Amino acid sequence: MGKVLIAYYSRTGKTEKMAEYIAEGVRFSGNSAEIKKLAEIKNEQEMEGYDGYAFGCPTYHRDMTANMKTFLFLVEKAKLNGKVGGAFGSYTHSGDAPKYIFDTMEHVFKMEMTSLGSFNLLEHLVEDAEGMRACQDYGKALCDKLGS
Ligand SMILES: Cc1cc2nc3c(=O)[nH]c(=O)nc-3n(C[C@H](O)[C@H](O)[C@H](O)COP(=O)(O)O)c2cc1C
Repeated sequence: MGKVLIAYYSRTGKTEKMAEYIAEGVRFSGNSAEIKKLAEIKNEQEMEGYDGYAFGCPTYHRDMTANMKTFLFLVEKAKLNGKVGGAFGSYTHSGDAPKYIFDTMEHVFKMEMTSLGSFNLLEHLVEDAEGMRACQDYGKALCDKLGS
């Protein structure tokens, strides 16, 4: 069984909901998932011991949030090369953040990124059955790479 850390920031709760559904997908595929807010992770040691990582934040001002940028500098110290990764976030019109997070995980941290790419979800779909299923599927897809 693999262990996945889902770390996120959410201002109004949409990306938080996504994190919960992604965790469900991870658990449906027989793996364990831990969800943490970015602010709860104080040092790189707290990122040790996982096989997969999904990082998420919403898009504000066509960018990832400032705390996600700071968090990614902490992730750099955790040396996650070769670990499975994915990135997600809620948005309304441009949805830039997940792609930028995913890019950093892939090219800077050299992680084994899910072939689905980054996962953007329009905020009005987050609470729908369709959105919930899409999140769960992303969690499951992330796990396809665990142990491979
Ligand atoms: C001031 C402000 C700026 C925003 N800028 C963008 C943007 O550039 N692109 C986009 O797709 N959504 C943008 N949004 C929409 C948010 O990404 C969207 O509401 C998202 O679902 C919030 O997620 P959260 O509930 O996890 O904080 C913006 C929202 C606000 C309030």
